[in-house]
Amino acid sequence: MSIPDVPDKNPRINTELRTQRSGVSGLASKNQYRAAHAAQRSKRFSVSRVHPLTPLCCVRGSDGILSGASYLIPDTPHSAKFMVHISKHPLVRHKVTLLRDVQTAPCDFRNLVGEIAQLMFFEATADLELTRVTVKTPLTDCEADVIWQRVGIVPILRAGLGMAEAMLRVLPKACVWHLGLFRDHSTHQPITYYNKLPPLPNIDVGYVVDPMLATGGSASAAIAILKSWGLKNIRYIGLIAAPEGVAVLRNEHPDVAIYLAALDSHLNENKYIVPGLGDAGDRQFGTC
Ligand code: PRP
Ligand code: URA
Repeated sequence: MSIPDVPDKNPRINTELRTQRSGVSGLASKNQYRAAHAAQRSKRFSVSRVHPLTPLCCVRGSDGILSGASYLIPDTPHSAKFMVHISKHPLVRHKVTLLRDVQTAPCDFRNLVGEIAQLMFFEATADLELTRVTVKTPLTDCEADVIWQRVGIVPILRAGLGMAEAMLRVLPKACVWHLGLFRDHSTHQPITYYNKLPPLPNIDVGYVVDPMLATGGSASAAIAILKSWGLKNIRYIGLIAAPEGVAVLRNEHPDVAIYLAALDSHLNENKYIVPGLGDAGDRQFGTC
């Protein structure tokens, strides 16, 4: 019996399968394939149990920046698995480097925030659900797909604004609800000053967007506001995060998947992300 090639994103699994195929019998059974696959999967996930923020295939550069793949972190207090996706896409990584550069002027900084946000949105919407419709082309009717879920974008003011505008260009029918929070300079605690949510949720999926996840206080407070408003399916998209902020979301909102362009080294004594990019709001709007 021959086994069809089962494509897998993990080349190790395919290598293992090919090795099994070239074994004594020359062919692996489907069960062997599945067992190898399951073993690899459990290995992959058990790695992350070593430390809550240990990615599966991470590279720590000399600047202390972690870059890795998307990985699940099980063993959270809730049944849902905590998921952090750190983009590996070369375009994202290239643009984040430009964003960090102290020489990047506000107009270029704003453009970069928008461009990276669009690329991140592309990654963070990969599991949106589709439904079949019939569309009339100039030639004939055909069956095609459309996203059925209603999407909301929730920028945390002010720095999330540039991200939300760029994401709207990709999904123009999304709703945008602004939440205004700023960090108190001495306590570093978030202070809510604006909330433009409608009375009841009328979306299926909400994306909280903010370039910086530092202590995690602002993101956690924004997500809590959305949850108490009644929204269940929430994701967070950020550009640069500190491990401290990821840990706060892991503890307080383990059901919220996180999409990041980069995970940095640590926070400094003023709770700024190191190496980071400085103050995202000031750099976007030229207020520094
Ligand atoms: C920045 C950033 C986040 C927050 C992150 O906003 O845009 O909202 O800090 O820090 P945290 O994770 O420690 O809460 P800031 O408070 O500077 O307000 P601004 O966007 O108006 O400049
Ligand atoms: N807010 C920012 O804009 N930058 C940081 O590094 C931390 C919080």
